[in-house]
Amino acid sequence: MERTTLVQHIRQQEKTIPGATGEFTSLMNEIMVAGKIISLQVNSAGIGEDILGLTGKINVQGEEVKKLDEFSDITFTKIIGQSGTVCAITSEEKEEAYIIPPEDHPGKYIFMMDPLDGSSNIDVNVNIGTIFSIYKKKSPGLEVTDEDLLQKGSEQVAAGYIVYGSSTIFVYTSGQGVHGFTLDPTLGEFFLSHPDLKIPEQGSTYSANEGNWGIWDESQKDLVAYLKEEDSATGRPYKLRYIGSLVADFHRTLLKGGLFMYPKDSKSPKGKLRLSFEAAPLALIVEKAGGKASTGNQPILDITPTGIHDRLPLFIGSKNDVEMAEERLAAKGKKGSWFKWLSG
Ligand code: AHG
Ligand code: MN
Ligand code: MN
Repeated sequence: MERTTLVQHIRQQEKTIPGATGEFTSLMNEIMVAGKIISLQVNSAGIGEDILGLTGKINVQGEEVKKLDEFSDITFTKIIGQSGTVCAITSEEKEEAYIIPPEDHPGKYIFMMDPLDGSSNIDVNVNIGTIFSIYKKKSPGLEVTDEDLLQKGSEQVAAGYIVYGSSTIFVYTSGQGVHGFTLDPTLGEFFLSHPDLKIPEQGSTYSANEGNWGIWDESQKDLVAYLKEEDSATGRPYKLRYIGSLVADFHRTLLKGGLFMYPKDSKSPKGKLRLSFEAAPLALIVEKAGGKASTGNQPILDITPTGIHDRLPLFIGSKNDVEMAEERLAAKGKKGSWFKWLSG
């Protein structure tokens, strides 16, 4: 049986981009290598090096840094930083952008990553992953400016993620469809397993941390209550699935359809997930697969970040499900404001 490897696939895709020089293929290759190294660490966590548990540090997000968070961040930064294909790297784990020094031959791309997503699941053998996003340098000259680092999601050249799960899967889009590859551990090679992925137009599951119910606003509570009601015509009640690793919850949603949401709440009034490292790359993927991604009232890909660590609410998944969520949130929001106005 003839099988397409990830490298072959990336090369074929690059051929269709006018003026392509091979730099994009090199960058994707390096991402794949870093992903394989992390996959190996995840698979052998607990038996090899002491890689489980905490580093004792707190990151820019105010969260405890796990050893695997740090290992993934360092691995990606080193490999991509020396690839000669990028001029800057931003990471969920680092406050500032890492600007590639001249001796490491800066390239034309900007690389953004959540090096290890789903940290709370590291020590318990539940799926975790890496999410990445690629932009082109926009500003003229050698210096990297905010114009380069704060681009709209719609300007991404490519985006992808790697799930370290029951198998390791690499999913990416460079604008022409969404393609998934499974790591063959005996050969150490990714092979095309999910060509041209399309998300179902409507799903039958919702995914949210419902433990946050008490800190949600009324419109969010109304939306989830609606999904739980019984109505066979609209396929309700929806099933609840929540892993707690965005990358894994997203991967299921992409394959099976449905709605993933991490709304704002009174503890995180702007939302919890990060625009550049989580929402924007997954938004590009879902849209290229026929789905939608929204803050609840605005497409994720239309948003220009104000800082590299911006957070926002996220509603992502099947087109009909995201639209339904937007409609209900808007309707309830209006009712709420009328009620407040009437009751003075
Ligand atoms: P990270 O591990 O990169 O910090 O991201 C954690 C995120 C995301 O993976 C997940 O969807 C969400 O946090 C889970 O949050 P809760 O524990 O609040 O449900
Ligand atoms: Mn994350
Ligand atoms: Mn992370």
